[in-house]
Amino acid sequence: MTTVTWIEKGTHRSAGWRTENGAPAPRDIVVIHDDIAADKALRMIRRGTGLLWRGDFHNARQLMRALDRRLQKRASRAPQSSDPGDIFLANRKARAQRAETLGKILIPLEQDYTVRLRRAPDVRNACTHAYGPPTHSGNDSTGRETLVSLPELLGVISAYEWHQSGIEVAALGARIHPAYGVFAPTRDEYIDLVADAPWPQGVEDPIVWDIGTGTGVLTAVLARRGAREVVASDINPRAVQCARDNVGRLGLADRVNVVEADLWPYDDDDEVGDAGRADVVVCNPPWIPGRPTSALEQGIYDPGSDVLTRFLDGLPRHLTPQGEGWLILSDLAEQLGLRTRDELLTRIADAGLTVIDTRETAPRHSRASDTDDPLHAARSRERTILWRLVIPTS
Ligand SMILES: C[S@@+](CC[C@H](N)C(=O)[O-])C[C@H]1O[C@@H](n2cnc3c(N)ncnc32)[C@H](O)[C@@H]1O
Repeated sequence: MTTVTWIEKGTHRSAGWRTENGAPAPRDIVVIHDDIAADKALRMIRRGTGLLWRGDFHNARQLMRALDRRLQKRASRAPQSSDPGDIFLANRKARAQRAETLGKILIPLEQDYTVRLRRAPDVRNACTHAYGPPTHSGNDSTGRETLVSLPELLGVISAYEWHQSGIEVAALGARIHPAYGVFAPTRDEYIDLVADAPWPQGVEDPIVWDIGTGTGVLTAVLARRGAREVVASDINPRAVQCARDNVGRLGLADRVNVVEADLWPYDDDDEVGDAGRADVVVCNPPWIPGRPTSALEQGIYDPGSDVLTRFLDGLPRHLTPQGEGWLILSDLAEQLGLRTRDELLTRIADAGLTVIDTRETAPRHSRASDTDDPLHAARSRERTILWRLVIPTS
């Protein structure tokens, strides 16, 4: 863990720098209190200074909001293109700059994750959920405090609230409990597509793979539908643990195996014979071409559509003769001009696959009807499609 240093009341201090998204440690750190003015704070941040908060916790949030309003005002004055792709990229850039700026407000965490600030919430359980138990979490072994950015800490707190309350999934008639850093099924229309798609002809209790399982929500739906066995994979270790927890909670562990893997649960070289093939291979991959900036964003952004392409290319090697690949893909990238439908169809054909059916759904989430969203036009046209793919019989 990187060490950061500063001077406080004339004494040299140091702490570990805690960041989950790889944000660089601030060049220098200044201790601030409740009396700091937002404009002054913004000027200091712009010079690269991290602001170590020693005031009231609620006031730290107020400062963050005040800075955010200033950033939004500035962003709204920037010239806007009418091209949806440009708007999308400009929004992403603005969000990254916002995260960088607000991320310079720093909160001290004691070694047991106590925040010793006035009116600070008890974040020990939330931090243990996100970072692991204090003694095994990379906390500074000398017992020094660590510094974490306020936005990251607020993200840790809200992820823990979601984890505890869970998300009701109608197709399951049960709750799925997301975890910190794992893609959560807050939009459920794509889940219904998987719940309703027919099994391949002649297959009654299929062996199913769920590639990029996230919380394990589709795995649970497919196991409940009667899959004989589900093998789920994810490249994100947090997702693997989260999916195992959900599967266990739902009493499905005897039929489900969750593994950490880059796409395929079994290497092509493995001597697995028929175990290396499935009757249904479902995949809801990251759907927007672009570089992810965190493990969570690995569920959304796929540089150069690499995951999508490798999934399609590998699919024929992993399907039983009567098997089907179920690719779930939002067409938002097409609406934004970041990928064309022809490119997708060419990738499917180049992989030696044929489309036998498509099922699509419109978004039901509130953002799709938010006319103030600069991407409203694209979002309101967005469709999520389940592509049923097979190896053509010659
Ligand atoms: C859109 S999310 C879908 C999650 C879950 N299947 C669902 O439908 O809610 C995509 C998931 O793919 C995972 N992922 C991304 N790249 C991957 C790869 N190369 N191999 C395996 N999983 C990957 C992400 O970690 C994320 O959990």
